[in-house]
Amino acid sequence: MEGKKIIFSGIQPSGELTIGNYLGALKNWVKLQDEYDCYFCVVDLHAITVKQEPKDLRRRTLELLAIYIAAGIDPRKNTMFIQSHVPQHAEAAWLLNCIAYMGELQRMTQFKDKSSKQGSGASVNAGLLNYPVLMAADIILYQTDLVPVGKDQKQHLELTRNLAERFNGLYSDTLKVPDPYIPKAGAKIMDLQEPTKKMSKSSDNPNAYILMMDPPEVIKKKISRAVTDTLGVIKYSDEQPGIKNLINILSAIKGLNPEEIELEYQGKGYAELKNDVAEAIIGELKPIQDKVKELVNDKEYLKNIYKEGAEKARYIANKTLRKMKKKIGFIPQE
Ligand code: TYM
Repeated sequence: MEGKKIIFSGIQPSGELTIGNYLGALKNWVKLQDEYDCYFCVVDLHAITVKQEPKDLRRRTLELLAIYIAAGIDPRKNTMFIQSHVPQHAEAAWLLNCIAYMGELQRMTQFKDKSSKQGSGASVNAGLLNYPVLMAADIILYQTDLVPVGKDQKQHLELTRNLAERFNGLYSDTLKVPDPYIPKAGAKIMDLQEPTKKMSKSSDNPNAYILMMDPPEVIKKKISRAVTDTLGVIKYSDEQPGIKNLINILSAIKGLNPEEIELEYQGKGYAELKNDVAEAIIGELKPIQDKVKELVNDKEYLKNIYKEGAEKARYIANKTLRKMKKKIGFIPQE
């Protein structure tokens, strides 16, 4: 482990995972795990910024950990844990909240989107506003170098960098300023019904997204219903957002450039492209799904992983937190 650069990333157990989460984040974690010392977190504290049914939250939290492992994250090499098991995250978030500005938090695109769904200002919970500060705390506690995420998290990463720099400016060098890692392919998988919008697990229309646990026939159906256009040519262009999205999905799964895929489909029809995209998704997800089903039944195995993960995470996180508190002027306990 010594000498390796550090990665931190996380996914919320707030809904079923989509292929957007997989291709934008998880698949890249798998690729990066040998080169970096990695912390992969199930961010349950973030999930409660929108209302969660307790029993669903419990089920999804464990299922998400199982998905990490099934997708290929090796529990022997990486630290996997549940955010609420490491209280340092909430504590560091408070410290950072005291140097974060209301204005910069209110400007966050995700806050604007999500708060508009919660109604008028009076009923928007404060957690939603402070959400990216908790995310910054997650990251800085591990002195993280790199954060592999989808494009929608770029703004939150910029805020994290600003908060780390601000803390260092106020109290002298303490926190590493992290860089985002946003993949070329898969950075933003779009909604299958409205391909100018990001694919999201919170969409009301199930045809808009493909879930990681969708069975093969459902995947086929959803891809065959994906909105395209009437141009009839397969081009990787903003004029054809539906086709562009299908090419991006194929590109992220196969590890090919979109241009290579465009060339391969010259003169071919949309039905053939859709069929190949569906087959590629099924081929990628089926082994993961089988493994997840096996793992979720092995609660003891999962428990060992998250317990051990949290122990290591607490130890590392505490080192940074202690430094932060000392610099702020708090009296050390011993
Ligand atoms: P979350 O749970 O919304 O999404 C998890 C990851 O999936 C990516 N993603 C996508 N990528 C491509 N196309 C899409 N349609 C798509 N939808 C989602 C997200 O960019 C993300 O990488 N705030 C984070 C969770 C978090 C976190 C962190 C991440 C909390 N603390 C610290 C990194 C580091 C979030 O809401 O992700």
